[in-house]
Amino acid sequence: MPKRLDLPAGFRWGASTAAYQIEGAVEEGGRGPSIWDVFAARPGAVRDGQTGAVACDHYHRWPEDVALMRGLGLDGYRFSIAWPRIQPTGAGPVNQEGLAFYDRLVDALLEAGITPLPTLFHWDLPQALEETGGWLDRDTAYRFAEYTAAVVDRLGDRVPAWITLNEPFVHMVYGYALGIHAPGRALMLDALPAAHHQLLGHGLAAALMRERGLEVLIANNLTPVRAASDAPADLAAAEAYDALHNRLFTDPLLLGRYPDLSAFGVSEDLGGAVRPGDLKLIAGPGLDGLGVNYYNPTRIAAPTDPGLPFAEAPIEDVPRTAFGWPVVPDGLRELLTGLRTRYGAALPPVTVTENGCSYGEELDDQERIAYLDGHLRAVEAAVAEGVDVRGYFTWSLLDNFEWAEGLTQRFGLVHVDFTTQRRTPKASYAWYRQLIAAHRARQAR
Ligand code: BGC
Repeated sequence: MPKRLDLPAGFRWGASTAAYQIEGAVEEGGRGPSIWDVFAARPGAVRDGQTGAVACDHYHRWPEDVALMRGLGLDGYRFSIAWPRIQPTGAGPVNQEGLAFYDRLVDALLEAGITPLPTLFHWDLPQALEETGGWLDRDTAYRFAEYTAAVVDRLGDRVPAWITLNEPFVHMVYGYALGIHAPGRALMLDALPAAHHQLLGHGLAAALMRERGLEVLIANNLTPVRAASDAPADLAAAEAYDALHNRLFTDPLLLGRYPDLSAFGVSEDLGGAVRPGDLKLIAGPGLDGLGVNYYNPTRIAAPTDPGLPFAEAPIEDVPRTAFGWPVVPDGLRELLTGLRTRYGAALPPVTVTENGCSYGEELDDQERIAYLDGHLRAVEAAVAEGVDVRGYFTWSLLDNFEWAEGLTQRFGLVHVDFTTQRRTPKASYAWYRQLIAAHRARQAR
């Protein structure tokens, strides 16, 4: 039985997924190719040569997946919309069949008492836009706004709140700086315009969503940064890393300016990408909510070789997930309270939009239960310290296509057999269901 958690009334319980990681059916329903289809086809790009061509076959099995969510008693479901299903070439006419898929999904969720929380961009850019420069091209931000308008005009009557982007930091670093993810470009610091153009796309999309009375959130991958020691060189390196990973994405949104990146030799206008008026657009009148995706803290030391002003240092003596990621639940409390200290009144209500762990194939996943329990206690502690946290969405509902790791990292509350597509709830599924039910029962009293 889950232990009692003291969380505010109205706290929302959810689970998250993303289109390319679960849908499959990449050539159906008029969908165009995305950068992930092209990247995954490159030999050696994804472990075992896997792709998202089938993934969890959610495109066909979504009614079963909605039933699993109903069984959990979720308040909310965070999923993403595949831009190439809506605009197969990233511009121009809307593919009605693509919109119709999400239309049916939204209706089924509402029917199950679950509020949809869609993300408009979770890394699957239409390939045609990559061919004109992807997020390195300013024009992609305007295309994103156009796509957003098409989606919200169809679904906005039933979906009150929207997430514009998922983790612009990870997309920029893995996709454009290091080349580990699609589109597979390794530009190091020359990738920075991809950060600005994603944020500009957020700003343009947010403005038109607000005109339509919709709520706007963004989901950032944030990490509390710990210096390896109190030595000035380690502290300076930690500050530089914090600016790049966290503040580059929260300062412009919440304060209307970019952080100082001079340690990277980068100018305030990110190498000329920032134009007059952009920051005003990005900050707009403020977010309705900040989505926080948390997996682990980062430990940073002074650089060991020239090039970057920091080096990553290992976090010792903590358990690790199958991915090798350190399990540090208190890092989530540290992150949430740190955001409040840093941004004060400028911090909007927070929702944890991702948090979870990969383990092996076992159905009796006690390690996942311990992970989730620990992180929810960290949320409870942050709330007790005064942070306005409105909800928790675990990553993920289903085992799915884990990007460059293919099908090898399983994050689901539900096990998926990728040969038969059979879904089997794990012990963590029952645990989460009981936790949600107990919380709800207490509120009803
Ligand atoms: C992403 C997910 C991913 C998860 C685990 C997040 O960075 O938004 O798509 O599956 O982490 O790696």
